[in-house]
Amino acid sequence: MKPRDRFLAACRNETVDRPPVWIMRQAGRYLPEYRELRSQYRFVDFCRRAELAREVALQPLRRFPLDAAILFSDILVIPEAMGIEVDYRDGGPVLSPLVETEADLDALTEPDVTRDLGYVAEALQAIRDGIGPDLALIGFAGAPYTLASYMIAGQGSKRLSAVKLMAVRQPELLDRLLGRLTDIIIRYLIMQRDKGADVVQLFDTWAGDLTPEAYARIEAPHVARIIAAMKAENIPVIYYINGSAGLLNEVRGLAPDVFGVDWRLRLSAAREALGPDIALQGNLDPHELYGPEATIRARVRELAAELGGRGHIFNLGHGIYPDTPVEGLAAFVDEVTRL
Ligand code: CP3
Repeated sequence: MKPRDRFLAACRNETVDRPPVWIMRQAGRYLPEYRELRSQYRFVDFCRRAELAREVALQPLRRFPLDAAILFSDILVIPEAMGIEVDYRDGGPVLSPLVETEADLDALTEPDVTRDLGYVAEALQAIRDGIGPDLALIGFAGAPYTLASYMIAGQGSKRLSAVKLMAVRQPELLDRLLGRLTDIIIRYLIMQRDKGADVVQLFDTWAGDLTPEAYARIEAPHVARIIAAMKAENIPVIYYINGSAGLLNEVRGLAPDVFGVDWRLRLSAAREALGPDIALQGNLDPHELYGPEATIRARVRELAAELGGRGHIFNLGHGIYPDTPVEGLAAFVDEVTRL
């Protein structure tokens, strides 16, 4: 099968010759050629200049027989298009001003995605041009709760609990913010499809921090609206949560085409909980790529056996780490192609 057909068939849960494979953060610092180019430009230049986005998106495809390219961009381009400044520092992105009050939210602009995020459209077209018609192209956006986490805390890690405090103290404000983000995400993802994306992944990196009850009340209704809009447009959706083990009941109700599983639970347990109609993506622990090649290959075969090849897209359970040995990833992808 051609990689694009294989990838789309797996998204639809149809029979494939082998599971397709791609890697979250496949374009990035673990590749020496990325670091080399990165030393000459800022990260935002890669996002904003189509020829650079194309080059770094193609780098992993020159090394590994992956089935898909992913748009080179960042989830934080949406807050930026709403008027928030995003500074990509070495310790992670820092946003300002923060959203803390109704007035802060009202002050944010309503982006026109084709105008304000037109550089993403250009990047997608350039990447499609570079990969040709036979590879799948994945578009993406941050999910509302994950974007709001950054917009309220201003940065990642420990300060992200600011979003949970807002959920407790100012629930209407948080819901309004999530609602506004949801409207933008829907328009943005439809634009990505129009510009060449075959499927879209919704990154809900921080939703695993919520209790099941809070997730169902705060985030799930907004994600449901995004998934419904994508279904209406016939755009396959991969929904990813980091740390989803406690939320699978809620995810089942959302019925994404594909659910991205982190490494903390077995793929077979995710299948059991989500049912046979939702395809799964994942879920090697990224640490495994630092181990012996034979072990990596054995892990691939174990993971494949858990789902019997049906409705499975191979990937890691989260993004690849910047100091991962390239040989580890090469063994992982090669073993998938032998299945
Ligand atoms: O190859 C790909 O997967 C496509 C590109 C991509 C990037 N960010 C490029 C990037 C994607 C899909 C993202 C998503 C993203 N961005 C998420 C969700 C995925 C996840 O990891 O859970 C989040 C939370 C962000 C926000 C963000 N952007 C963080 C936390 C960081 C700093 C951490 C880091 O890896 O440096 C960024 C910067 C960023 N985004 C880099 C890349 C390649 C590193 C920038 C550099 O070269 O210095």
